Amino acid sequence: MDSNDRVRIIELPKICDPRGNLSFIQNGTHIPFDIARVYWIYDVPGGKFRDGHAFRSQHEFIVALSGSFDVVLNNGTDSVRHHLCRSYYGLYVPPMTWRAIDNFSTNSVALVLSSTLYDEADYIRDFNHYKELAGNGR
Ligand code: TYD
Repeated sequence: MDSNDRVRIIELPKICDPRGNLSFIQNGTHIPFDIARVYWIYDVPGGKFRDGHAFRSQHEFIVALSGSFDVVLNNGTDSVRHHLCRSYYGLYVPPMTWRAIDNFSTNSVALVLSSTLYDEADYIRDFNHYKELAGNGR
């Protein structure tokens, strides 16, 4: 694994302005992959959660554009909960990291930047299968 490929919070530029603050992400500058796709999760009913999965090759960067939620990451051994609640930073999730999202606040919006186009074949949806693959030197 490249040292660039580690889970971390990445702070984004924040232009503070009495008219309203502004943050941005520019390809090639702020996150460690080229952006191929952007999607967002919204209108989440209270108490709902997104089932966990991992990606074989996809990198992700997740931002709480509005409200808050928790991203729960598991490397096959340890689980770490990241509470995202501000739009001027996000969580970088490298490939082969098990992740689930829960604890959505009312009206939260989760923005996800992805390094690949949508490809169901890139998903690992079975945690035991993930652990087998992750334990084999990736
Ligand atoms: P999915 O990533 O499976 O979400 P979760 O694992 O959190 O349930 O996406 C849900 C559905 O949305 C899935 O059937 C495929 C579709 N989808 C796309 O068509 N394009 C996309 O970029 C994404 C993220 C999902």
